[in-house]
Amino acid sequence: MTRLLLIDDEAAILEMLEISLTSEGYEVTTAESGKEGLRIFEEEGIKLILTDIKMPVMDGIEVLRRIKAIDKEAEVIVITGHGDMDSAISALQYGASDFITKPIRDEALILALQRAKKKLAVSRQLKDYTENLEQKVKEYTVELRQAQEELIRSERLASVGETVAGLAHYIKNILSGLRGGMYMANTGMARDKPYMLQDGWAMVQRNIDKVSNLALDLLRYSKERTPERTLCSPNRIVSEVLELLKNYAKVHRVELKKILDPNLKDAYLDKDGIHRVLLNLVSNAIDACIYDTAASKAWEVTVETRLETDDDPGETILFKVTDNGCGMTDQVKAKLFTRFFSTKAGRGTGLGILNTQKIIHEHGGKISVKSKAGQGSTFSVRLKRNMPEGSKGGTN
Ligand SMILES: Nc1ncnc2c1ncn2[C@@H]1O[C@H](COP(=O)(O)OP(=O)(O)OP(=O)(O)O)[C@@H](O)[C@H]1O
Ligand SMILES: [Mg+2]
Repeated sequence: MTRLLLIDDEAAILEMLEISLTSEGYEVTTAESGKEGLRIFEEEGIKLILTDIKMPVMDGIEVLRRIKAIDKEAEVIVITGHGDMDSAISALQYGASDFITKPIRDEALILALQRAKKKLAVSRQLKDYTENLEQKVKEYTVELRQAQEELIRSERLASVGETVAGLAHYIKNILSGLRGGMYMANTGMARDKPYMLQDGWAMVQRNIDKVSNLALDLLRYSKERTPERTLCSPNRIVSEVLELLKNYAKVHRVELKKILDPNLKDAYLDKDGIHRVLLNLVSNAIDACIYDTAASKAWEVTVETRLETDDDPGETILFKVTDNGCGMTDQVKAKLFTRFFSTKAGRGTGLGILNTQKIIHEHGGKISVKSKAGQGSTFSVRLKRNMPEGSKGGTN
């Protein structure tokens, strides 16, 4: 049953219309003044209104204006005096759906009401449709995101599967290293040769480090995580990583250099994650020098930091790792960020770059590479400085 609000100050007309419209199947609510009509409209939200124009205090045009200001979709039909075209025109200008003139003819009123009812039904349908559409879009977006996450997860699992053979080879090499180390240590003990004992234990230690790094890398790669950001110094992380790799570089005659931007103050980063990123990149850079087939070269690995302020919005931290080692062919470059790819024949897992990229992406950062076979490579990592609001950062 359609609800109808009937506003007229003449009780007799109100009563007559109420009877005839109720018999037409409308659920009629009546109001004897514009003010009362407006109150009922506000309280009950009736969408179909029939109002007289000539009423004391608040006339029908004012009622129409206020109703339209509250609900544009309400359908208001006005009743004008015979020949009062001015009121009819201004009612239409204020958005009345229709007007009927006095004396009211039932057919004209019923027709006007039917037209208004149809308009109401159409606009309700339209509203349902758009609301439905928004809901559907929301549902599809969630489904799509789930599917995408599933895909990423399954791709990663597939890539783990694919690399098992490669990993087995890598682990076999670590086991040989462990056995070799233990043999050397045992022989050193048996023959009372402390230097052999020492070298043997160092070898065991190195290979234990390798296994634990592998386990950590695999765990890191298979887990989604958000960076645990704390205030830390990017320059200090670089220094710590270079300190760790100092001996490895020295043994292989690779010079380590650093160019640190003094303007680069503390930033909110996942310290362990960024440490891992730089450890991977600098290790790869040293390896690239070791794998370089050039007869003699002054091999160098340089780590540079820079605060880039021209970026809009906010500041960007740049870490740049450059080596003049073997460089990469286009083929190697193309495979660099895909699946567990390594050219180090059982001495590498190919997890290094994958994890590096993952950690950088988790920070919302970017990694890029420039490389030329035989000449060397440069890896650039850009991270947003990401200071929480109101913080100015600390000392370097
Ligand atoms: N600086 C570089 N110069 C030349 N090649 C590089 C460089 N960095 C990475 N690569 C190439 O990318 C491959 C993948 O690197 P990634 O760090 O993922 O694995 P890896 O170093 O082989 O193994 P792991 O990191 O487990 O020791 C390397 O095997 C190497 O071929
Ligand atoms: Mg590596």
